[in-house]
Parts: sequence; C-alpha cells; structure tokens
Amino acid sequence: MRRVHVYLETERLRLRRFTPADAGLLVELDSDPEVMRFLTGAPTPPAEIEDVVLPGILKVYAEHPGLGTFAASDAGGFVGWFGMQPTADPRAVGVGYRLLQSAWGNGYATEGTKALIAQAFTELGMERVEADTMAVNHRSRAVMRRAGLRFEKVFHVQFDDPLPGTEFGEVLYSVDRATWEAVRHG
Ligand SMILES: CC(C)(COP(=O)(O)OP(=O)(O)OC[C@H]1O[C@@H](n2cnc3c(N)ncnc32)[C@H](O)[C@@H]1OP(=O)(O)O)[C@@H](O)C(=O)NCCC(=O)NCCS
Repeated sequence: MRRVHVYLETERLRLRRFTPADAGLLVELDSDPEVMRFLTGAPTPPAEIEDVVLPGILKVYAEHPGLGTFAASDAGGFVGWFGMQPTADPRAVGVGYRLLQSAWGNGYATEGTKALIAQAFTELGMERVEADTMAVNHRSRAVMRRAGLRFEKVFHVQFDDPLPGTEFGEVLYSVDRATWEAVRHG
C-alpha cells in the first residue's frame, strides 16, 4: 500500500504531500478559469502540470522537508491545495491556497491557513508568515484577514501580459510571532 505523508489535520481537512500520481487532481483544479482568474487568467495546460508544476512541488519536499504544497481533502475527497513556501528569509514562510470552486464558501481556506500559520510558529519555529495576492482578489484578501494576517503594503510588479486589475497592484499581508502569540493568548 502507498504510504501517505500526512502534513497536518484540522477539524474538517486533511493535508498531505502530493505524489507523482496526483497530476490529475492538479489538472482538475487548474482547469477552472474562475479558479485561475487572479493567477494566470487561464487553465494550466495538462502537459505543464506533468512536466513543470508537479515536479516543482515534489522538489520542494526534498529541499525543504517541513514546507511545500499540500493536497487538501474533506470527508468527500480532494478540495484543493494549501502551500507553505520558503522565502528569501529563512525565518519566514509564505502561505497560499487554491480550492475547487465547489469547495468555496465553507471556510476551508481560512481553516487551513490558520493551521498553517500555527504550524509555522510552533513546529517550524518561524518568526514571520506572509501572503500576497492581487489587490483585486477580494476573496483571497478576506481569507488572509480572517486567518490573522495583517495588511502590510501594496506593491507593483511588471508583467509582460498583465491580467485585468494588475494596475491596482499586489498586496502583502503578514503576521509576526509576537503578534500571533498576543492574539492567540489575548
Ligand atoms: C481564495 C479562495 C481559497 C477563497 O475561498 P473562500 O471559500 O471564499 O474562503 P473561505 O474558505 O475562508 O470561506 C469563506 C466563505 O465561507 C463562509 N463560511 C461558511 N462556513 C464557514 C466557517 N465555518 N468558517 C468560516 N467561513 C465560513 C464565509 O461566510 C465566507 O462566505 P462568503 O464568501 O459568502 O463571504 C478561493 O476563492 C480560491 O481558491 N480562489 C482561486 C485561487 C486563488 O485566487 N488563490 C489565492 C491566490 S493568492
């Protein structure tokens, strides 16, 4: 039987490492233009998932054992993924999430992100957690706020083929250990 590497569990979700057999889940997720609206604006070609996306995910597990992109399931099966990625600062991680549209509206993104932040400050001993998204991605910004991340700044990135809304910039949210602990114990 294949060994499943469970990363963490919340009340309703189980997060596990992706395996080489999981390309189909990622293809399904990235095939919805609405899911990809603030990311690339279009479905990710299946060949790109096979050749670039999934190998990239597996490589992060090898290089950063406590970090990576993790498949999330509820009682009914796959709902999307959560990511906790290295940053240029070894004491900071970046969190992210991408859920099937059928899983939106349940509080799953908030629940998973809260768990990742707790994992970062406890198990991983991080000092800072951050997240960024397009300023116009209001659903994502709401997740960041609900999960305890605080708005830090707007910044601008030059893209060759900018998505609608790029003119409003990207937003950075973050929380440091002291703030997270104060809110948690407050
Ligand atoms: C960003 C994304 C994950 C947000 O999903 P979401 O379902 O809106 O976020 P949550 O899981 O926190 O759920 C919040 C919603 O569930 C509702 N909800 C229901 N039960 C809930 C509960 N137990 N706890 C919290 N919220 C609950 C909330 O009221 C809210 O509803 P609303 O959207 O009508 O205001 C989703 O839109 C997505 O995957 N988008 C595509 C990928 C993307 O853009 N990722 C971010 C790029 S950086």
